[in-house]
Amino acid sequence: MQTVASTDPWSVSEADYPADASEPEQLRHLLRYAVLAPSAHNAQPWRFRVTDAGIELHADRSRALPVSDPDGRELVIGCGAALFFLRVAVRRFGHMDRVHLFPDPARPDLLALVSRGDEARASREVLTLFRAIRERRTYRPAFEERAVGAPDLAALLEAAEDEGGWLRPVAGPLRDDVAALVEEADKRQYADSAFRRELAGWIRSGTRGVEDGIPAYALGIPDLLAPLGPTLMGALNLGGMRGGSDRRAAQAAPLLAVLGTEGDRPSDWLHAGQSLARVLLAGQARGLSAAFLNQPVQVPELRARLREMLGREAWPQVIVRMGHGKALPPTPRRTVEEVLVS
Ligand SMILES: Cc1cc2nc3c(=O)[nH]c(=O)nc-3n(C[C@H](O)[C@H](O)[C@H](O)COP(=O)(O)O)c2cc1C
Repeated sequence: MQTVASTDPWSVSEADYPADASEPEQLRHLLRYAVLAPSAHNAQPWRFRVTDAGIELHADRSRALPVSDPDGRELVIGCGAALFFLRVAVRRFGHMDRVHLFPDPARPDLLALVSRGDEARASREVLTLFRAIRERRTYRPAFEERAVGAPDLAALLEAAEDEGGWLRPVAGPLRDDVAALVEEADKRQYADSAFRRELAGWIRSGTRGVEDGIPAYALGIPDLLAPLGPTLMGALNLGGMRGGSDRRAAQAAPLLAVLGTEGDRPSDWLHAGQSLARVLLAGQARGLSAAFLNQPVQVPELRARLREMLGREAWPQVIVRMGHGKALPPTPRRTVEEVLVS
């Protein structure tokens, strides 16, 4: 049974920072920014613990997506995004961030330990990334036709590299090949009723008391049909329709890009999540929104084809399309209290 969150997680403001409070209380406050991170199906697969050593970030496997993400790769990427949001918040409020990835080999689901280092004034870049945390949304409609300019693109590539990943723009004939792969992935995934049931299980038709999952409005499902959305999605194979529209979205996007890493271990996934988060925030700060077309990365055979197409030994992790869009409402989140463990 879901409860109504006492405070809207998106209502956090810079003025709320408890400057005179104890360190644990300040650390708990910083988590209000971590929970705004994106995650696959908005499952929010994270838990945090505040200890004397800092903030522990744990993978929450009870929120896994066994059909679309059997290895928990995207689960760790989502946690990496939350880790990056947390690090930006640490720096915004005047400290260097210290991060120890996988600090205890005996506990592989303890993904990171974050602590505060020396006091340091936030740079202009940190302030810009920080402001983008509350403005960022996954943008599923079509983008405006405006191109992504060269300085913006350069900033996105740098953002990915700063966190140990890479971003590869997909243009020319390769764009058609990747778009066709997205369509094929949609068709394969939607043909599987277990995939459809899993997706349907995360679609939410209302907002009252909802604190996770993808609201129907974010998927462009009209209000009147919203209550039927999950049932329809579970019962019908919409793969042909979905595939066609995703293919067109991939072809029409001002920017289509693959974000990846050199390796494909859980530590690489954590870097991928941080790279993704930095790309999304750097983009948002420049007026660019993003949406995901990850399907080919989720189907092992198609991921192998994507690697061949990209012509490199490295590993694709996420596919994004980016461009200029309009403001959208946020999607639900659990509050800090709900993701804290003692
Ligand atoms: C690793 C990862 C994979 C995702 N994959 C998809 C996807 O395949 N399709 C999609 O529409 N959104 C995808 N999303 C976006 C999430 O659905 C979105 O972040 C979540 O619903 C919360 O909404 P918000 O980003 O607007 O805050 C993905 C997000 C992450 C972090």
